[in-house]
Amino acid sequence: MPSMNALPPTSKSSPDGSVAKAPVWYWGFFVLWLLVLPVAHAAGQPPAAAIASAHPAATRAGLEILQTGGNAFDAAVAVSAALAVVEPYSSGLGGGGFWLLHRVSDGKEVMIDGREKAPLAATRDMYLDSQGRPVAGASIDGPLAAGIPGTVAALAHISKHYGRLPLKQSLAPAIRLAKEGFAVNEHYRRMARLRLDALRASKAAARQFLKGGEVPPPGHVIRQPDLATTLQVIADKGREGFYAGVLARRMVKAVRAHGGVWREKDLLAYQVVERKPVIGHYHGWRVVGAALPSSGGVVLLEMLNMLALRDIRAMAEADRIHYLVEVMRRAYRDRARWLGDADFVDMPLQRLLSPEYARELASTISMTRATPSEKLADFKAEGRDTTHFSILDKQGNRVAATLSINYPFGSGFVAEGTGVLLNDEMDDFSIKPGVANVYGLVGAEANAIAPGKRMLSSMSPTFLESESGVAILGTPGGSRIITMVLIGLLQAVEGNAAEHWVRQPRFHHQYLPDEIQVEPGAFSEKLQQELKKRGHRLSIKERPWGNMQAVYWNRKDNEVEAASDPRGGGLAIKSSK
Ligand code: GLY
Repeated sequence: MPSMNALPPTSKSSPDGSVAKAPVWYWGFFVLWLLVLPVAHAAGQPPAAAIASAHPAATRAGLEILQTGGNAFDAAVAVSAALAVVEPYSSGLGGGGFWLLHRVSDGKEVMIDGREKAPLAATRDMYLDSQGRPVAGASIDGPLAAGIPGTVAALAHISKHYGRLPLKQSLAPAIRLAKEGFAVNEHYRRMARLRLDALRASKAAARQFLKGGEVPPPGHVIRQPDLATTLQVIADKGREGFYAGVLARRMVKAVRAHGGVWREKDLLAYQVVERKPVIGHYHGWRVVGAALPSSGGVVLLEMLNMLALRDIRAMAEADRIHYLVEVMRRAYRDRARWLGDADFVDMPLQRLLSPEYARELASTISMTRATPSEKLADFKAEGRDTTHFSILDKQGNRVAATLSINYPFGSGFVAEGTGVLLNDEMDDFSIKPGVANVYGLVGAEANAIAPGKRMLSSMSPTFLESESGVAILGTPGGSRIITMVLIGLLQAVEGNAAEHWVRQPRFHHQYLPDEIQVEPGAFSEKLQQELKKRGHRLSIKERPWGNMQAVYWNRKDNEVEAASDPRGGGLAIKSSK
């Protein structure tokens, strides 16, 4: 593929003031390059399209759009909207997310930042009492916990600027699902049980998601007529249907009546941002990661830079896990220390992503002893839900999207008459330096609350590309998202099939709490003993975590694979269209 830098040399002034011309041979090459560019980008199209998402109905909604002439971006709109209906505990119109796109016609790579923003009336200490202590639940339950949603603006933007079909068509499957309903499964019941009090506290949420104020039985059909109407208004009017007019007024009124601080101008002012993804390299693979305000790309690349310094494949198992954990610990320390919304804070990103810094950090790793996290602190401070889908279309367009309303069922609050369940993403801010959020993450000044600021995220939609193939992956899972993507990505680099990336046993270290979190059965007794001997504290969790959705286009064998995490109930399919 020709380099994107293969542009003609800019005319240069020589010392005598004359302008040097580009040589004729150069222009010959330049014209040739312009001619081959679209062909080169389109070259080697995948033999099939593929979609992997966390819910079969959402995967089918995307497939329907591909089969009626839509591209991967139209399908992404359809899948996002369908997930908003059938996975209300994970994402929704009242939430936000990051959509990482690769457009094959011109090679454009962009992250659509539809992350929620703090309302303009938000204040730094809004979740603290008069003594400066966090008020229990204030950043998690009810509309005070809700940031200004970005999902609708992002879907309208993607449809308008990248899609082929009208928004109306891409939203049609979700509208149908909201009207016809979906059957409650065990996962839904578990999530509803966890958030029962918050859902009961909102009359509209209880009506929409519970049955007689209780967790609905398996098979109970959840129909959402208000949400269907809201989706229809968006289909007819675009983003204005949500951020202005009757719907906006209704949401603001309900939020304010229940202790929230939204104003109509918050909704009117909401804009998505097109951000340049974070790019790095690992063992011949080009890694395209999420940009800030997701910490995903920076933390992932910091970890990969440290891993690239050692041959981890040649290490004994205990050495490899120990080294990976120490790498995770250091990168998550930097997350807590430095990262926040790039529109508000200056961060030393160039240094954090430099090979010199990786060498410096890695040189502090002892292979025989765990480094206590407190030793790394040089500052005074301090998913369960969310969803991910991956899409490849037959032209080679790609989407990796991770969407959220934060905690299961978000804030638990539905604005009366809208069907829109609001997020509790404000909890992803550092509500006080050193105070852990619902995922146990601590933060510092960079992630303090400010009006209009986006809260730091861990959502990590990721592409990986080399001559061997193209990988599209991501997962929900709160603070553990980035280490899950790392573990999946290492599987891809080792040449294993997508099925393995999503299945791989998981472990996680996030600097604080200073422990290795381990999925049940992931570490043998022997490995646990060896790690304990080096000073690690292990926290073996009762339940596995994550719900990775992955697509792989194996360029060598010209095959497409799609895989959905066996821990969840998703569906991965391939299609000849
Ligand atoms: N709400 C989870 C995240 O954005 O990381």
